[in-house]
Amino acid sequence: MTENSENEVSESQIAVHWREEEYFDPPPAFTAQANANDPAILERFSEDKFPDCFTEYADMLAWDQKWDTVLDTSNAPFWKWFGGGKLNACYNCVDRHAAANPDKTAVIWVPELEEDETVRISYGELLRQVNEFAAMLRDFAGLDTGDRVTLHMPMVPQAIVTMLACARIGIVHSQVFGGFSGNACGTRIADSGSRVLITMDGYFRAGSITDHKVKADEAVAEAARQGQEVDKVLVWRRHQGEYASATPMADGRDFFVDEHIGDYAGQVVEPVSQPSEAPLFLMYTSGTTGRPKGAQHSTGGYLAYVTGTSKYYQDIHPDDVYWCLADIGWITGHSYIVYGPLSLGTTTVIYEGVPNYPDAGRPWRIAEELGVNIFHTSPTSIRMLRKVGPDEPAKYNYHFKTMTTVGEPIEPEVWRWYYHSVGKDKAAITDTWWQTETGGFLGSTLPGLQPMKPGSCGPGALGIYPVIYDEDRNEIPKGIGRAGNICIRNPWPGIMQTVWGQPERFLDVYYRKYNSDPESKDWHDWPYFAGDGALEADDGYFRILGRIDDVINVAGHRLGTKELESAALTVPEVAEAAAVPVIDDIRGRMVEMYISLKPGFSAGPEMEGKVTKAIEVEIGKIARPKNVWIVPDMPKTRSGKIMRRVIASVSNFTDVGDVTTLANPEVVEGIKHQVQSAKVARGDTPRELSQTELAEIQAFGNE
Ligand code: PRX
Repeated sequence: MTENSENEVSESQIAVHWREEEYFDPPPAFTAQANANDPAILERFSEDKFPDCFTEYADMLAWDQKWDTVLDTSNAPFWKWFGGGKLNACYNCVDRHAAANPDKTAVIWVPELEEDETVRISYGELLRQVNEFAAMLRDFAGLDTGDRVTLHMPMVPQAIVTMLACARIGIVHSQVFGGFSGNACGTRIADSGSRVLITMDGYFRAGSITDHKVKADEAVAEAARQGQEVDKVLVWRRHQGEYASATPMADGRDFFVDEHIGDYAGQVVEPVSQPSEAPLFLMYTSGTTGRPKGAQHSTGGYLAYVTGTSKYYQDIHPDDVYWCLADIGWITGHSYIVYGPLSLGTTTVIYEGVPNYPDAGRPWRIAEELGVNIFHTSPTSIRMLRKVGPDEPAKYNYHFKTMTTVGEPIEPEVWRWYYHSVGKDKAAITDTWWQTETGGFLGSTLPGLQPMKPGSCGPGALGIYPVIYDEDRNEIPKGIGRAGNICIRNPWPGIMQTVWGQPERFLDVYYRKYNSDPESKDWHDWPYFAGDGALEADDGYFRILGRIDDVINVAGHRLGTKELESAALTVPEVAEAAAVPVIDDIRGRMVEMYISLKPGFSAGPEMEGKVTKAIEVEIGKIARPKNVWIVPDMPKTRSGKIMRRVIASVSNFTDVGDVTTLANPEVVEGIKHQVQSAKVARGDTPRELSQTELAEIQAFGNE
């Protein structure tokens, strides 16, 4: 960081205002039945047992061939877990349960329209569907082990069937969140080298069916522009035999799955026994540069890690009914809707639409009707449900034994509503901190054993040893109230293997900063740099402050400022663009764009609309900015760098700090007047920010 002095001020401010929240003990009834209720488990995962402790997770899987090395560090930091072992992820998630318990419900799908019937798929039926679709992937789409395929699917059971069918053959699936635009999908198709795209015609959201197939055409065109031809698009239909999209099917390229799947009726595709380190899937995420990073996850290590953490942290037993509201297209969906829960043979619920459709009681009605006893969602959904229906949970008769929050820091008062109102004082909460790159949880309380503390995720998860470093690799001791960069000292089985096609970037982004010897084969020399600021309290609990890189976390979705800015720059009139976060009471953060125009063009609503549209087209509606401010000039350093912290402070009504060293300090007052008076006129003035929020805004964009 070049502006260290400023950061130090922020950290000491945090120290002054750091307040410890009270503990909540795990409910005794929960502990009595918990998978992890004997403190001996902490001993089994103590640091001196590393890496062998993780064989406890691997032993939860069925292996075709047992591993001979638990952790191979010979190509550090490209770790290999359970080397020599062979297994199939689909077999573990489907076949073994279908054999033992074919009628047990694997997936419950709740369509958004309440009058539509809930669909239950047993393990036996799931096996049949997966086999038939796997046969179609192999024989109709011509896909084979090691090929990549891109999925752009909504929240429907066909997304699960597709993932598992890929896993059965060892096809590497790369699922793009359904809310991403066609162009964003196309970029990921090109990066992964997929020649097949699997999508759906449409799906329900907020009461109406959206045309999703149109994005497939955009995606294929964008991929072609980037040099990747897609030769087949397989289109699942929301209603079999009826096409929900107005977009024509391209002859010879686009095929309805339901018109061909019949040819594979009753076919059985043997699960391909895969080496433990064979890639299972790619999951793209944002970073500091515009090109998205395809986090490559392994078969054996990943599946072991999500199975073990689902068992101990989600406390999944086979007879539970587990509902995670995340989207299957994100890492949470992959790890904790599909692979972890199904590997444990439980019932996983998926819901098609928005949580408050048609009203704020919907989630609680679903929970009551289906007997959901484990609930998992994000702070954004919790804030939204609290806002639109604070008293709704009390009207329904459901019982959650445990609940999870994930994706963003949760404010203690929001946590308390979750605990008292949603959990009815009876559920243990796990606040799980982790990332796309990490495969599974890094920080959380063990729900049956460790007390909860609102706003803190808890200690490192079993076998995970976090540490907080300052910029110079000095360890920041716990309990002194100073924040720093949270790292994980050791590797773990769920860590991604590499960034697809960009191994240098994997090294640079996650390991270079704190590695002292690039030749070292000793894992102690390779702390994993998570990119989050955090504090460790006296009790060893971590409080995560948020990203320290140029990433804005909107409703739990990571958006790279560079991606937002490049999207804005596709508008021909735009000369410069800067994206900054603005604190939002529901979504945590929202994006505001600052734009300067090329000479000869004038500002106005039409130009603002063009920028918004460009962001929707390039990234998706989730990235739509709250405001687009067209300013005469951007505040810049003498070397020409846009000072994002200054405009972020303007957007959030916080002190812009010292601007005298800027090349053009005189522009700041003008921007401030323009933006803040417009916001005041709209009634859009923020509440008082917490010290941590203030620190984030005032340091935004520092490097
Ligand atoms: O900043 C942290 C925040 O979300 C980032 C990871 O985002 P993503 O890769 O999209 O994965 C989201 C689902 C795991 C982290 O770097 N984050 C995630 N969980 C928490 C969190 N911040 C605070 N508390 C959490 N529980």
